Amino acid sequence: MKHAMAAASGAILVITAGLSATALADEEAFSVPWGSNSKPGVAPVTDESYRQECGSCHMAYPPGLLPPHSWERLMTTLGDHFGENVKIPKAHWKTIINYLLNGAAGRVDYQVSNQMIRNIKGIPVRISELPYFRHRHQDIPEQHVSGNPEIRSFSNCTACHAQAEKGRFDEGRNMSD
Ligand code: HEC
Ligand code: HEC
Repeated sequence: MKHAMAAASGAILVITAGLSATALADEEAFSVPWGSNSKPGVAPVTDESYRQECGSCHMAYPPGLLPPHSWERLMTTLGDHFGENVKIPKAHWKTIINYLLNGAAGRVDYQVSNQMIRNIKGIPVRISELPYFRHRHQDIPEQHVSGNPEIRSFSNCTACHAQAEKGRFDEGRNMSD
């Protein structure tokens, strides 16, 4: 986990840039070209109506985990939301979509947000299917997730990331220990 944090910081990337390309190919493909002043993690959720309407079935995902088009797609297809019909009062809907669009990845300068939008194709509606997400979770066997009643799904961030609500994902439990 320490390693993960270090790899994401600009300073380390500058140092490693001169090293063997083969050893670094994997990290390199996901490195941040945005400069080194990005804040760590993602911005935590601050909007109460968002937390209320979108945080009852799963955690209220921080807006900086998906790009604007993805939030727009999600907010305009709530009648068929992963098999659920999500109903939201109209006044709240407007507040929430504005909140999500303003804080979306690509519009804020946080390290994890900047990573999440790399190499995206189309308009993904799952954070857990983004290339960076897959890259960082590829070593976790699927049966440790779906087969564990405490986790069930990769969408359940808080099961493994105790600080997820605070926008911190650098401490992850793989639940295999
Ligand atoms: C009635 C329950 C319910 C409510 C309310 C709800 N969701 Fe969901 N949401 C789900 C389910 C079920 C899934 C799929 C979870 C899974 O695959 O394990 C999901 C998945 C998601 C995902 C993808 C998670 C991933 O795998 O990366 C996003 C993003 C999301 N919801 C956003 C929202 C937003 C925004 C709102 C508020 C407008 C909202 N949800 C409200 C039930 C709900
Ligand atoms: C089954 C446990 C598990 C679940 C569920 C899970 N993660 Fe992770 N995640 C981990 C582990 C373990 C790591 C550390 C991997 C490493 O050290 O390279 C990690 C790493 C990460 C990282 C990279 C760390 C960083 O600061 O860049 C991000 C971002 C992340 N997870 C986000 C999420 C989000 C968002 C969700 C929910 C949509 C989620 N994770 C669900 C276990 C999980």
